[in-house]
Amino acid sequence: MLDLTDIRAELALHYDLAPSVDLARDMAHIHARMDRVMPFPDWAVAAPYVAAINRLKAERGAVVLAHNYMTPDIFHGIADVVGDSLQLAIEATRTDADIIVQCGVHFMAETSKILNPAKTVLMPDMEAGCSLAESITAEGVAQMRARYPGAMVVSYVNTTAEVKAASDICCTSSNAARIVAAMPGDTVIMTPDKWLAQNVAAQVPQKRIVWWDGACIVHERFTPQDLRDFRDWHPGLRIIAHPECPPDVVAEADFAGSTAHIIDYVGRERPEKAMLVTECSMASNIADAHPGVEFLGPCNMCPYMKKITLEKVLWSLHSMTGQVEVDPAIAAPARLAVQRMIDLSRQLDG
Ligand code: 13P
Ligand code: SF4
Repeated sequence: MLDLTDIRAELALHYDLAPSVDLARDMAHIHARMDRVMPFPDWAVAAPYVAAINRLKAERGAVVLAHNYMTPDIFHGIADVVGDSLQLAIEATRTDADIIVQCGVHFMAETSKILNPAKTVLMPDMEAGCSLAESITAEGVAQMRARYPGAMVVSYVNTTAEVKAASDICCTSSNAARIVAAMPGDTVIMTPDKWLAQNVAAQVPQKRIVWWDGACIVHERFTPQDLRDFRDWHPGLRIIAHPECPPDVVAEADFAGSTAHIIDYVGRERPEKAMLVTECSMASNIADAHPGVEFLGPCNMCPYMKKITLEKVLWSLHSMTGQVEVDPAIAAPARLAVQRMIDLSRQLDG
């Protein structure tokens, strides 16, 4: 575990990280992107970290890839690229930077490393895991193959490199239904998210889909009754869910899609009131871009995503600790599964 006391003492020797109203004012253009969700005093605390990280990034030639679930200070303050899991994987194949700082969870950093074996990939906190990635091992994939001989294995990117290596192809929530529909054979094995698999099954009735018993601890907390209650309390509310939610929750929503598709939907539809049935930071990150939309609903946070903080990002870049390594013997077949997904996704997009 990171020792924050030691880290703070070391960082204080190299950077002036005291809250600064002057710096916050100088960097007001960055704060303007999160004005609705971050009060100015909080920005005065964050601004010295944002300034230090952005300077260090330039000195080291690093790029920050940040998932849509990062807190607004990371999402708007230091990210070079933001996106859903598929967008981040694609950007990882495109970047010229020698160092990738992954602001997200461990499987995302592993995916970046798998796609860029020669680059340094930094994970600001190695304990930023994922309940889905932790739910299955390569042995579990082998059990599913033995139970359904000949069926293709489509694994969510929310898996370890070992599980990707044992799979035929990966998918993300933005392309899962299309990838599954494109698989040969009648039966398709989906791992590890049972709820994503069941939502895909409803969209792809021509396939028999069998699944592993994994779930996202954030999305399975929502219930259909939550959604009905919010609809009753806020007439006209548009409900937008992530497909990691159980099918009875998705059935109560007006739209379901990946985090990038949720952002596109809000931009396109501009509802007066919206409930994003997903991780809490999503609404915060897009609130300023959509001043006419009132975001409502409970704040369910992902404890893994929230392990990534400005302080840990600065420490990781400063000390070059948290370097992600993947055994080359695992990385090669895992890369095949991820690359097949990227190629098939592009082909299906036309
Ligand atoms: P997407 O951003 O691909 O929709 O994934 C959501 C998620 O839970 C990532 O951990
Ligand atoms: Fe994993 Fe769910 Fe957290 Fe995403 S939100 S990292 S799927 S636990």
